[in-house]
Amino acid sequence: MTQSLIGVSKQELDTPILCIDLDVMESNIQKMASFMQERGKQWRPHQKCHKTPAIALKQMEAGAIGVTCAKISDAEVFAASGIKDILVANMIVGQRKVERVASLCRWADPMICCDHYAQVEPLAAACRAAGVTCRMMIEVNIGLDRVGINPGRDTLELAQAIDKLDGVYLGGIMGYEGHLLKMDNMEVKHTAINEAMGVLVDSHQRILDSGIECPVVSAGGTGSYQITSDCPGITELQAGGGIFADPLYQTDCDLTGLDYSLSVWATVVSRPAKERAILDSGRKSHFPDFHMPIVKGIEGAEVTAVSAEHCTLNLSGAAQDLQIGDKIELIPGYADFTTILHENFYGFRGDRLETVWPIQGRGKLQ
Ligand SMILES: Cc1ncc(COP(=O)(O)O)c(C=O)c1O
Repeated sequence: MTQSLIGVSKQELDTPILCIDLDVMESNIQKMASFMQERGKQWRPHQKCHKTPAIALKQMEAGAIGVTCAKISDAEVFAASGIKDILVANMIVGQRKVERVASLCRWADPMICCDHYAQVEPLAAACRAAGVTCRMMIEVNIGLDRVGINPGRDTLELAQAIDKLDGVYLGGIMGYEGHLLKMDNMEVKHTAINEAMGVLVDSHQRILDSGIECPVVSAGGTGSYQITSDCPGITELQAGGGIFADPLYQTDCDLTGLDYSLSVWATVVSRPAKERAILDSGRKSHFPDFHMPIVKGIEGAEVTAVSAEHCTLNLSGAAQDLQIGDKIELIPGYADFTTILHENFYGFRGDRLETVWPIQGRGKLQ
């Protein structure tokens, strides 16, 4: 049904909807791909900000080697679109799930994260039963204190255990520096990220020294890749959210050189006071907790509160001309938790609707 809208202008569309400025997103994708290429790194973008194969394929056209995702059900969506090289940057636990991984190995080339032998053994057994072999990625704790095995000897011992097991083989090691994204002092941020990557690279070297092959060293997110991609020994970056370049990244993580490409198209539904307007797009259409949305192109309009179905703007100056029925664009503070609220992305070329993409990974939680 939505496809029949293609060609219409943004003004003609009902609100709220989630919009992509395709020119800007494509430019962001190209810039991220070139940034990695210039530094001799591979790009394996995390797809959690878009969960949409059509966008992943655009990233691969620009040079990405595959995708990073978080769940086996996500991986299945991307494999169904023809993408083979899929990192599941999460532990897969449970008999049904390891069997799903084994099935996926027939259609794609997934790499599954682990930080303990107890995750690897059942997965290897399922793969042996299915007659396939699966790549494993050891996740090392480089300071985030989320998942991740201790660096050094523990990492080496897990690599050796994987090496001895039929049904799996070691594809790489990774660490996520998520605790170092929001640092005010850029010099301190540089030093901290370099130290964290040093820990990862040191563990990698120990694995290589033991004679085990381990081709991939993966790290990085949008809030850090502009630093992490200069770290020696890192082979690939997982930064994904830069394609939308949300206010969270630009304001809190010092992301530079990329532009906002995502917006929520919203309508003014009430003007209870001269300095106040109410929009029809509350937190059921965008996620304001990490960073308030920004009103695009209207000076003097600022989001001051967001409830379930209402968004409150404070208006000053010319912004007070806003009237009931006017439509405006909100730049969501953080894309990841905004995307999953919507069924579709509406992709615009200028003002014209060019494409509607179902967000196929939405609800893929298993
Ligand atoms: C494992 C992992 N890699 C990379 C990222 C970075 O993703 P993004 O670039 O979209 O911020 C995250 C973010 O949470 C993550 O958990």
